[in-house]
Amino acid sequence: MNPPQMKNLTLLLLLLLLFSLHLTSVLSWKKDEFRNCNQTPFCKRARSRKPAPSSLIATHVSLSDGELVAKITNRRDDQIKPLILSLSAYQDGILRLKIDEDPSSIPPPPKKRFEVPDVVVPEFASKKLWLQKLDTKTLDGDSSPSSIVYLNEEYDAVLRHEPFEIYVRDKSSGKRVISLNSHGLFDFEQLKHKKPKSDQEEEKHDHDQYQDDDQDHDQEQVKEEKDEDEDWAERFRSHTDSRPYGPQSISFDVSFYGADFVYGIPERATSFALKPTRGPGLEDHSEPYRLFNLDVFEYVHDAPFGLYGSIPFMISHGKSHGTSGFFWLNAAEMQIDVLTAGWDADSGISLPSDRSRIDTLWMSEAGIVDAFFFVGPKPKDVVRQYTSVTGTPAMPQLFATAYHQCRWNYRDEEDVENVDAKFDENNIPYDVLWLDIEHTDGKRYFTWDRAMFPHPEEMQNKLAAKGRHMVTIVDPHTKRDDGYFLHKEATQKGYYVKDANGNDFDGWCWPGSSSYPDTLNPEIRSWWADRFSYENYVGSTPSLYIWNDMNEPSVFNGPELTMPRDALHYGGVEHRELHNVYGYYFHMATADGLQKRGNGKDRPFVLSRAIFAGSQRHGAIWTGDNTAEWEHLRVSVPMILSLGLTGISFSGADVGGFFGNPEPELLVRWYQVGAFYPFFRAHAHHDTKRREPWLFGERNTELIRDAIHVRYMLLPYFYTLFREANTSGVPVVRPLWMEFPSEEATFNNDEAFMVGNSILVQGIYTERVKHASVYLPGKQSWYDLRTGTTYKGGMTHKLDISEDSIPAFQRAGTIIPRKDRFRRSSTQMVNDPYTLVIALNSSQAAEGELYVDDGKSFDFKNGAYIHRRFVFADGKLTSVNLAPTSPGNSRFSTSSVVERIILLGNASGPKRAHIESTNLNVDIELGPLWLQRGRGSGVVTIRKPGVRIADDWTIKIL
Ligand code: NOJ
Repeated sequence: MNPPQMKNLTLLLLLLLLFSLHLTSVLSWKKDEFRNCNQTPFCKRARSRKPAPSSLIATHVSLSDGELVAKITNRRDDQIKPLILSLSAYQDGILRLKIDEDPSSIPPPPKKRFEVPDVVVPEFASKKLWLQKLDTKTLDGDSSPSSIVYLNEEYDAVLRHEPFEIYVRDKSSGKRVISLNSHGLFDFEQLKHKKPKSDQEEEKHDHDQYQDDDQDHDQEQVKEEKDEDEDWAERFRSHTDSRPYGPQSISFDVSFYGADFVYGIPERATSFALKPTRGPGLEDHSEPYRLFNLDVFEYVHDAPFGLYGSIPFMISHGKSHGTSGFFWLNAAEMQIDVLTAGWDADSGISLPSDRSRIDTLWMSEAGIVDAFFFVGPKPKDVVRQYTSVTGTPAMPQLFATAYHQCRWNYRDEEDVENVDAKFDENNIPYDVLWLDIEHTDGKRYFTWDRAMFPHPEEMQNKLAAKGRHMVTIVDPHTKRDDGYFLHKEATQKGYYVKDANGNDFDGWCWPGSSSYPDTLNPEIRSWWADRFSYENYVGSTPSLYIWNDMNEPSVFNGPELTMPRDALHYGGVEHRELHNVYGYYFHMATADGLQKRGNGKDRPFVLSRAIFAGSQRHGAIWTGDNTAEWEHLRVSVPMILSLGLTGISFSGADVGGFFGNPEPELLVRWYQVGAFYPFFRAHAHHDTKRREPWLFGERNTELIRDAIHVRYMLLPYFYTLFREANTSGVPVVRPLWMEFPSEEATFNNDEAFMVGNSILVQGIYTERVKHASVYLPGKQSWYDLRTGTTYKGGMTHKLDISEDSIPAFQRAGTIIPRKDRFRRSSTQMVNDPYTLVIALNSSQAAEGELYVDDGKSFDFKNGAYIHRRFVFADGKLTSVNLAPTSPGNSRFSTSSVVERIILLGNASGPKRAHIESTNLNVDIELGPLWLQRGRGSGVVTIRKPGVRIADDWTIKIL
């Protein structure tokens, strides 16, 4: 063996060792690898403070540039530099609060704190309300003045000067909606210059003072924590992160009024309504909810621990106020406590509210206060308000809303070909075949393992010929191999994240020694985007799309398996300041790349594991490495609901569970639930047994086929919902209370969910279930989606459960568009005729919508789409246009017709229908609700009305 061969062998052995170490670490959740609050200095400090009237006051309150500005000072200590505050109001009931260090203070702060760019959409600025005059007065019950800011007709915001407090209230009743610093826990640690040891003693005074001095906290403990701060470094296990500016955390309390539950702040595997983490009745050491993007192997199914993504947006909902929201735009590690009633019993604070209230404590390691208050008051108002700040979800391509088949890994071209052929043989549609990391040449992204995939273009073209697509994985860790073009270029251009010493950061990931592109920098993003051109990504074709994984970023040998907090980004930003937004930028740059590749004509599809607020604009996300266990199937629903509520509508969990081997029953149930996830993909770890749908015997194949068919039938409905999300932010999959906001029985229900406003789905999450209790909300009835059987609303039904399906119902009063002909892929269904399922309510009326466009381009932005409203009333079904008709708009047309109209709940037993536009009569027959397998026979069906889906028409039932 010559020396280079020896070197290669040693490297290979080293990699194998690392890989197997990594594998052993994935066998169970290694709690000790991750910090808890007590091991996180800022969290420990913030949690040790006690609520008490604040010693902070707002001074110099005035108007500037249409917003309220003020200084926040500590009335007990004039040595502490004041902070600057601004409050601005935006259309639709949004209040924005910013608090930062004062750049004009003497001495000035050592650097500008990181303020997250590129998350708030540019259009938001134009919604700012220009405040004309300052309304300052002493409100009832107060002894000092407050300044009042107009929000909308019903709500205003109050800045209380002394003690400093901010709240939003209902103007007519004066009742509070959300408040900040009502418990005096606001604290802001200002940046410091590192000084010689002797000078540091004096400085102890200078930070950490934005809190009340009267507090009865344990002085010893605080002293010990401060000493730790003075070390200018933090340690965890074998890692030390330097803190060149000392501790820089921010914390404050936020209260939600008229609230029964709080939700949101994904991503974690836990209940949908967030359980309290502190206060009377709870164990002392329960952990706060953590927001710190991490690659958590084999995560457990119920923990406050944060996973791959972070969205610091919390929503409250309750019977008395309705819904409100609070979003803190901050990308540093965050920890949030939800407190139980009575946690503040000794504080001497009594808040003016006769309504239920939920108090929370927000703590972040760095950054600034850039917070948004959303008044609601309806659930859909809050998501609209939030997505007007962070953007609505991108409109996906039609194929991406269908079924995806993934595995780590499809071995080679033959494997791909076989899997593809088997779908056809088994009459199971699918749209996308995925290739994981093994398809590359040694985990060098943008390359192919030429032994296994010698003809990548041909392989993609074969799939494309059936209307199918392929996705390959592209991760941020870039192999540090001088012969690798990507690494060479990134190194030469200086495009990698730097370590604390200014060298290219070098960490371990799949390829071994790796560096990470610094996509915070727009220039680097643009370069990264160009990597996806057909010319640069050799072997890629127009039907290839992308999967971004490990972008938390995952660093196997880093602290908590991620990048050290003192790594440095563009503009001198410390990694600790932006950690949670790293993956967001990488996802964004990749999506930009696909858009550039198609000359701005092809909608990108990029799946990302790491997310931040606003990721909905860049593509889909999945909930990472779950396990083939029933409890993981169960928790996938609250996880997806939380993501949807916080803007990320296009999400799903690995169907079947990533780790482990699902029993066939679990796999089938997972497909039955997964068919209703917005993002529907099966995926599995390479150590698991193969589990393509046909491998579990004929009966299970049939059941899985059936579940996938349900999704394909409902694609027109799903696509319409994706468009609704794209225009309004309202998620595709939603909690029941989003549709039934005053029904308390739904507030804590995370086993059932709504798909749009028309379908309610109840998952089955235990094996061998024979019966299930299902609560159907509202006053109207519900129709079983398969049989058409009617169930009364407003009550719990005990249902018999078979292996065939999970309970799913269509709400009375709705119309669902379907396509009932089964093809190989969604693309092949494009011109298929429609079925309209009309579920009549007690007034024999119903309504629904259909949105159609070309499924791939951006022409819809110029009006090239069909948007219909179907209204059934007084025995007539009418199709009306909702799309703009002005001549300047582009057009989209289709010759698809309506082939069947099904009337559920029709009282009169009609015989014929009259098509007004053609003046023809057609027969009404009794037919099956589902053609396949003849389910639900005996439903009233208008056959072949022949009207075009794009036209205006009326059909009268005779
Ligand atoms: C981790 C991802 O979560 C998983 O889905 C993927 O298969 C592996 N990385 C390998 O790329």
